[in-house]
Amino acid sequence: MANIIIVGTQWGDEGKGKIVDLLTEDSDLIIRFQGGNNAGHTLMVGDKKVILHLIPSGILHPGKLCIIGSGLVIDPEILIGEIDSLKHKGYKVSPENVAISERAHIIMPYHKIIDHARDSTQGIGTTGRGIGPAYEDKARRIGIRMIDLIHEEIFRKKLDIVFEEKQEYVTKILKLKPLEKEGFVEKFVKMGRKLKPYVTNTTVIIESAIRDGKHLLLEGAQGTNLDLDYGTYPYVTSSNTVAGQSCVGAGIGPTKITRVIGICKAYTTRVGGGPFPTELNNTTGERLRAFGGEYGATTGRPRRCGWLDLVALRHSVRLSGISHLAITKLDVLMGFKKIKVATAYKAGKTSIEHMPADLDVFKKLTPVYDELPGWEEDISSLRRHEDLPRNCKAYISYIEDKLQVKAAIISVGPKREETIVRTKLF
Ligand code: IMP
Repeated sequence: MANIIIVGTQWGDEGKGKIVDLLTEDSDLIIRFQGGNNAGHTLMVGDKKVILHLIPSGILHPGKLCIIGSGLVIDPEILIGEIDSLKHKGYKVSPENVAISERAHIIMPYHKIIDHARDSTQGIGTTGRGIGPAYEDKARRIGIRMIDLIHEEIFRKKLDIVFEEKQEYVTKILKLKPLEKEGFVEKFVKMGRKLKPYVTNTTVIIESAIRDGKHLLLEGAQGTNLDLDYGTYPYVTSSNTVAGQSCVGAGIGPTKITRVIGICKAYTTRVGGGPFPTELNNTTGERLRAFGGEYGATTGRPRRCGWLDLVALRHSVRLSGISHLAITKLDVLMGFKKIKVATAYKAGKTSIEHMPADLDVFKKLTPVYDELPGWEEDISSLRRHEDLPRNCKAYISYIEDKLQVKAAIISVGPKREETIVRTKLF
């Protein structure tokens, strides 16, 4: 038995989807534990592109059980769309291979309206999917959960309780047009009926799988620096993205975890607003964006690009207890004469070794860089670490030394097979 957590070590979009897809081969259960359809995994299966927002990518492999844990906020329309689209592409999706936690919260239409309206002034640059407002209702104890959605009477009753308040907020505070209740209630009741067979107590399924010695893969979304507590607050998402959250969001105890894999892109990207010390607003940044195809899988927004940031990565390794790294998109760095890596920040004469909590500090700091030699060779066809160009190997060793964590996996291209596996994780 091995139970593995996958987390993003940067600001999301590290290429977690591909690594999850790869490790799924050896796992039995794949569990999403936080976030919602703000996440998006782009996967290349052969020459087919599949984008998933809620269902774990394990769905693409026959015989795996995919679980949507209680830590998520679910937009039922997106989930049903995803199920239908997968079926249309020929994948099997049924309650036999997908289970949804009865405790997961629902994203309601008003959550999306509120998210959009607020972000236009707050400037977080959210995905506009209603994630924050849905988590907010969860914490306020007025959220509507999957268990409510599948029971029409309860759903209507709970909605009645919150609706007037939402109406007031939308019309009086946000000064938007009134919400129309009837149209969406019927739609949600229908969606509840459709999703009912999938909704269950997922923790019992997971517990029994652990007892049977099955392998679990716990799939995180976003990245450490978007964590609600430890990210660059308030420019963060509304859930915890660090490894500890996997236990809460999936419903298992920390004693059951074997390894934590931190997914680390060979450079850094960020979408939305907020601090990004190593951001490159120049042709180097543009080149990373173009070569790396750095456009959001969920919103299509161009990603901000910059050099690798060891301050952000040390933060991540510390907070999630990362046992192994998976370095992704290393092929994108091909052809750079010099590759820079931030080892610390500097504000005036003060050296900053750790991620500041104070946003004002970010405004004053500049990164302190080490410079490493680049490589000219295309590495995407290489499958063994020893075959990589010398400078490329040196870049990997440098990251390993600085973080004191070994890189178990190195991804050299978007396809499943474009991967170097140095350590078997299951
Ligand atoms: P929200 O999660 O939609 O509330 O957005 C909050 C912040 O997190 C924004 O800066 C988003 O761009 C960012 N964000 C949310 N999900 C992802 C993701 O999957 N990848 C990268 N950034 C994300």
